[in-house]
Amino acid sequence: MSSEVKASNVSPVTPPAPRIVQQLPGLRYPLHIYMFRRWVKLGNPIRLFEYLHKTYGNIAHYRFMGTPIVFINDPRYIQNVLVTDAAHFVKERTVRRMKILLGEGLITSDDPIHIRQRRIAAPAFHRQRIAAYGTQIVSIAASHRDQWQPGQTIDIAGASMALSLEIVARTLFDTEVTPDIRAINDEVNTIMGLYNFIVAFPRLENFLHLPIPGLIKFRKSKAHLDAVVKRLITEHRAAAAAGEPDKGDLLSMLLASTYEPTEADAGKQPEHMSDIQVRDEVLTIFLAGYETVANALTWTWYLLSQNPEVEAKLHAELDTVLGTGDQQRLPTLADYPALRYAEQVFAESMRLYPPAWAMGRMSTREVHLGPYNIPAGAHVFFSQYIMSRTPEYFPDPLRFDPDRFTPEAKAARPKFTYFPFGGGNRQCIGESFAWMEGVFSIATIAQRWRMSYLGATPPVPQPKITLRPRDPLMMRLTPR
Ligand code: HEM
Repeated sequence: MSSEVKASNVSPVTPPAPRIVQQLPGLRYPLHIYMFRRWVKLGNPIRLFEYLHKTYGNIAHYRFMGTPIVFINDPRYIQNVLVTDAAHFVKERTVRRMKILLGEGLITSDDPIHIRQRRIAAPAFHRQRIAAYGTQIVSIAASHRDQWQPGQTIDIAGASMALSLEIVARTLFDTEVTPDIRAINDEVNTIMGLYNFIVAFPRLENFLHLPIPGLIKFRKSKAHLDAVVKRLITEHRAAAAAGEPDKGDLLSMLLASTYEPTEADAGKQPEHMSDIQVRDEVLTIFLAGYETVANALTWTWYLLSQNPEVEAKLHAELDTVLGTGDQQRLPTLADYPALRYAEQVFAESMRLYPPAWAMGRMSTREVHLGPYNIPAGAHVFFSQYIMSRTPEYFPDPLRFDPDRFTPEAKAARPKFTYFPFGGGNRQCIGESFAWMEGVFSIATIAQRWRMSYLGATPPVPQPKITLRPRDPLMMRLTPR
């Protein structure tokens, strides 16, 4: 049949109904005009987001230094940005700025580099590979808890950081917390301490060489970081060349992984990552995977200490699955599916205190969110913290109730009402790793210890790169 005949048989296409475009609600004047309002606090956008949500509803806009910014709290719009229209968004400015630290690693890169890097890195994060880390996580958590004494007072925030750092050292580099690992930790912390300065500096990329104190500090830390990671890569490559068996750590896997050409690249050979790409990914994974889990654990211990009924239910599960008294044993991989309440506790803790508390994207062309037009170049923000405290989806939102995460309760909520790990093609690649680290650490520690919070007032969450407690979080330890 000829195409003309086909065409004549097709009923005429109905023209699309004219789109009803509504004016975006929001602040009338640029943000700096409101600088002295209670809800504008430099370094804490959560207050502003809360205000916008309360005052204007699920979508609101404002302008900051000439940039149109839209805050959304509608799960359908979030799905649009992360999934349906993801091709028309890139990471927002502050994340892009982190390229000066993380280069073209998974968090900061754009397509086509991102898609290629993700394909190379994916096998290293495969569920089965991650499973092998379970035993290491448990034995590290056990060695930490076994050093604690009855009646001792500890800063659980610091202790969780130390635990998570050792887990990263072991699983990412197959090493102890050596001076090299400490150096990476210290330099990343130094650079993160400069974060506000780095983000605020206009066109910083062009001025990195200037003799300004903040930049001198940055250059020194970055050079040290690069040298340490380079040495670790060289050592790993040398071990592989000498025929030493792959110990399964993430770095070895990244070095061994190849980019298998797709149909579009037919004829090309599989490619390894260059050393610079591996370095960027190592720093990215270090940064993304260490403080996030540590903070999630810290908040979990605090919440358990405040909710004795939940704590008792968790202990009952641990006793059933892992035994008591002389019969008590450490969790193994086979126990993971039975530690369901522990997983719900971790999920509920990340609802109230999501380590990644907000995300943002910049539109690369005009897009529509429901009846609203979002111009090209707008920044769109959404917040795990605000969404997962929205009463419409989580009634009585401040109550700590892990039963919100039974399979039935989860299935009853719309997608993107809970997204601690993001979504779409940029969804956290370490999600399975994080769940395993969280659940096994909770199980291993809570089977031995109960914690009582010693602060006179509730800890204050601080929205830095991750949501961390502002002050040390002191706990008294009682053996179970
Ligand atoms: C509780 C712990 C964690 C939380 C809450 C978390 C959260 C997130 C979120 C929200 C994103 C998406 C960011 C965006 O789209 O703008 C992300 C991306 C990422 N995360 Fe995680 N993460 C956690 C643990 C980990 C771990 C353990 C690792 C590695 C071992 C990791 C590695 C990454 C990487 C590499 C990306 C970038 C992925 C890509 O764009 O392809 N994360 N994470």
